[in-house]
Amino acid sequence: MRKFLLAAAVTLLAAGGGASCAFADQSAPASASSTQAAQDGPIQPKLQGNIERNLPDEPLVTARHGMVVSAQHLATQIGVDILQQGGNAVDAAVAVGYALAVVHPCCGNIGGGGFMTLHLADGQNLFLDFREKAPLAATEDMMQNAAGQVVKGRSTRTYLGVGVPGTVLGFDEALKHHGTMTLQQVIAPAIKLAKDGYTLEAGDVRILDTSTDAFRRSPNVAATFLDHGQPWKAGQVLKQPELARTLEMISEDGSKAFYDGPIAAAVVKASEANHGLLTLQDFRDYTVQWERPIECGYHGYTIYSAPPPSSGGTTICETLQIIAPYPFAEWGFHSTKSVHYFVEAERRAFADRNTYLGDPAFVDNPITKLLSAEHAAELRASIKPDQATPSSEVQGSLGPYQATNTTHYSVVDGKGNAVAVTFTINSYFGIKQIAGDTGFFLNNEMDDFTSKPEVPNQFGLVQGEANRIQPGKRPLSSMSPTIVMHDGKLFMVTGSPGGSTIISTTMESILNVAEYGMNVKQAIDAPRIHMQWWPDQVFAEPGAFAPGVHAELEAMGYKIRTIRQMGDIAAIVVNPKTGMLESVNDPRYPAGEAAGY
Ligand code: DON
Repeated sequence: MRKFLLAAAVTLLAAGGGASCAFADQSAPASASSTQAAQDGPIQPKLQGNIERNLPDEPLVTARHGMVVSAQHLATQIGVDILQQGGNAVDAAVAVGYALAVVHPCCGNIGGGGFMTLHLADGQNLFLDFREKAPLAATEDMMQNAAGQVVKGRSTRTYLGVGVPGTVLGFDEALKHHGTMTLQQVIAPAIKLAKDGYTLEAGDVRILDTSTDAFRRSPNVAATFLDHGQPWKAGQVLKQPELARTLEMISEDGSKAFYDGPIAAAVVKASEANHGLLTLQDFRDYTVQWERPIECGYHGYTIYSAPPPSSGGTTICETLQIIAPYPFAEWGFHSTKSVHYFVEAERRAFADRNTYLGDPAFVDNPITKLLSAEHAAELRASIKPDQATPSSEVQGSLGPYQATNTTHYSVVDGKGNAVAVTFTINSYFGIKQIAGDTGFFLNNEMDDFTSKPEVPNQFGLVQGEANRIQPGKRPLSSMSPTIVMHDGKLFMVTGSPGGSTIISTTMESILNVAEYGMNVKQAIDAPRIHMQWWPDQVFAEPGAFAPGVHAELEAMGYKIRTIRQMGDIAAIVVNPKTGMLESVNDPRYPAGEAAGY
């Protein structure tokens, strides 16, 4: 049985919904069915629609000193243990990250990359970019055939989809500059989990089983991730001796083992054998980057989120600037008016995102313009009060451009530090292949680039020139690890997986608390919506709209598409009244846990 430290309860129900990655991976009925009762004002717990959505009721967890929330309970517990041993939030974040590479192998990783947003006790707000880079031999049209058509699956299922992984160097960098413990100390629990194994829960098995057929195609993957060719079952113990050995090498030799040693050599060998482009030079040249987070104000709150090569912070801030003057709290959560203005603001911000943003080492991102008050005012003026604007009438608003799997976790320590990490191998289990005996899945992050302008990627994102493939470039991301401050004090740490829906999910988690006055449990349980310019549809979780609201939105011209669920939020809120840390496991990922002490 799981151990909850100061947890309010231990209600653990069997897995509810399915995997919550990109909507592109899900079978979605064409039209919405609304089940949620009409609401006036802030959402009430009894109206959250969990019964209709068949999600377990997860307890609100409070803690005084430190808190960790992640998509896998064993990783959460390792983070709390590190905090209790005197480690800070960065130590715990790195320990949780390595643990997730073992116990959440779809998404937690060493074969991918990610972002870390930090608020330090001395008041600094920092951002670490450890996103994958395109191999040096990558070319703009490498995902296309001779006829110029994008080859289905090339960027998602083959070694051509693999970017140079950044996680190991990213964790090293964070620990070196802002941690207090050694790599050996924080990686040890992950090694133990990989070596001794861990007992699978229904929530773990559900995710593994999404890829059973793919695992069967690779004997080295099947040897670990299938039980004699069959899916693992809840209650069985999954051991990963090869991953344990890889982690031991990292523990002994640091990131050198990964980037200039046997691990790089094994990945390059497998890539060469499978028509990939990765070379030893790609690994040796790989770098991580400290950046200033994107910063914006919203109704007295200050938001720090991911700058390019993520589009997350920019798109969140651009959307919030557009909607800031509207009385959303008065209009109510997911009322017709608040949905209308939120969706129209997102439509315009995503048009800008998809047109202008890319890796800052390669393109000039017009962030200042996109986040200016004038730009927000112009976009606001183009919103019709009673009608949806067709996406065909919305373009990147600065003129032409010149020139689904992930996991998020949040950590707060008792020393004043907060860390938000989102990291990914993109699709569940990346390309679903493991190089030789390295034991870890390789990412398919190359699919986040524009394979060809106008051709949607796996998240349906139609992106432009700024995000074309170039050697050594990082693909544009939607990952948005975010920290929210209020009156100079930490208020919220939040983020989510979910491809392009990450931006909406993260933003709604903030709005639900800061605008609608929900507590963290209400904010996370509440159904979500998303609009990304193309396709010209509003994506909505079941129960997102009261029936009357749904009909009104359709009458205004909105095409509403129900998707089973968006990404799981891992958020921690500091209750301004009590000063206590509050969190909850997102019921969309039943294997997860929030815990503190
Ligand atoms: O960086 C990005 O935006 C994507 N690679 C994230 C992928 C993701 O969230 C997948 N699913 N849940």
